[in-house]
Amino acid sequence: MEDCPIKNQLNSIKEAVEKIENGAKDKLNAVWIETSGCFGEVISLFDGLTPNIIYLLDKLVNMTYFGSIMADEGDHAYERLLEVMNKDYILIVSGAIPKKDNGLFTVLATYKNEKITASKAIDMLSEKAKHIIAVGTCASFGGPTAANPNISEAVSLREFLNRDDIISIPGCPANLIWTYGILSYLVNNGTPELDYLGRPTAYYGELIHDNCERRRYFDLGIFAKKLGDKECMFMLGCKGPVTYAYCPISKWDLSNNWPVGSSTVCIGCANPGFPDENEPFIQYGGKNL
Ligand code: SF4
Ligand code: F3S
Repeated sequence: MEDCPIKNQLNSIKEAVEKIENGAKDKLNAVWIETSGCFGEVISLFDGLTPNIIYLLDKLVNMTYFGSIMADEGDHAYERLLEVMNKDYILIVSGAIPKKDNGLFTVLATYKNEKITASKAIDMLSEKAKHIIAVGTCASFGGPTAANPNISEAVSLREFLNRDDIISIPGCPANLIWTYGILSYLVNNGTPELDYLGRPTAYYGELIHDNCERRRYFDLGIFAKKLGDKECMFMLGCKGPVTYAYCPISKWDLSNNWPVGSSTVCIGCANPGFPDENEPFIQYGGKNL
């Protein structure tokens, strides 16, 4: 993703929109399946101001199916999912996929008296999808939905489909600018460079710790004693040293802020083992890695 440097992510989005508007590229066709989770990915997307959801839907993506915002209901809504399979399309999934009881923990629709589970829809749509994107830590790794005791036996998209070509954008929630960045990269260039977990290296290539504004304190061995102190929060259990994500660079919605900037430790929400392997999130009096 060399020609899509992180600092130019807005330029990349603009470039994709210009190519679509001058006919050099087509808008992406996509369906967004929301399965088991807290819908945080969708809230993150809807809260975005720069760019916002209207811009995404108007300029970049024909979103044929998106349960949280689509006007269609009932059979007609489900038929929109079936229609898209006659085109080139991208399958976007947020949330983990419950496997217990044939996936009945998440039912997307009842169509002709059949309950269409998220697992059935994802199975069907994945067959012909040009690209498959997991948005958020639940879809990428199982996340909180698959955390102990995982009563619905939920799994990540990668595990459910048993495929290693899925583009994963972990984060709890995923940073919306990464989602936009990947969609625009698909328009401009095609599949981005991915690491062994399917994460785009442009957004997950470096440790949070290596880009953190408090790193100087860490190097000098000066540590915060409580939340709110200005020093490095390593001794409070910050997971920045073991978490690969560009949070300190991207920040949130161009706000110039991010968890450590708000004086909370990084809890490693973009990590594969989140949350079980990252608890306790805060620990006073010693390191917690
Ligand atoms: Fe590393 Fe966390 Fe300290 Fe930042 S606050 S330097 S990420 S340990
Ligand atoms: Fe999550 Fe840590 Fe980034 S908590 S949002 S990975 S700073």
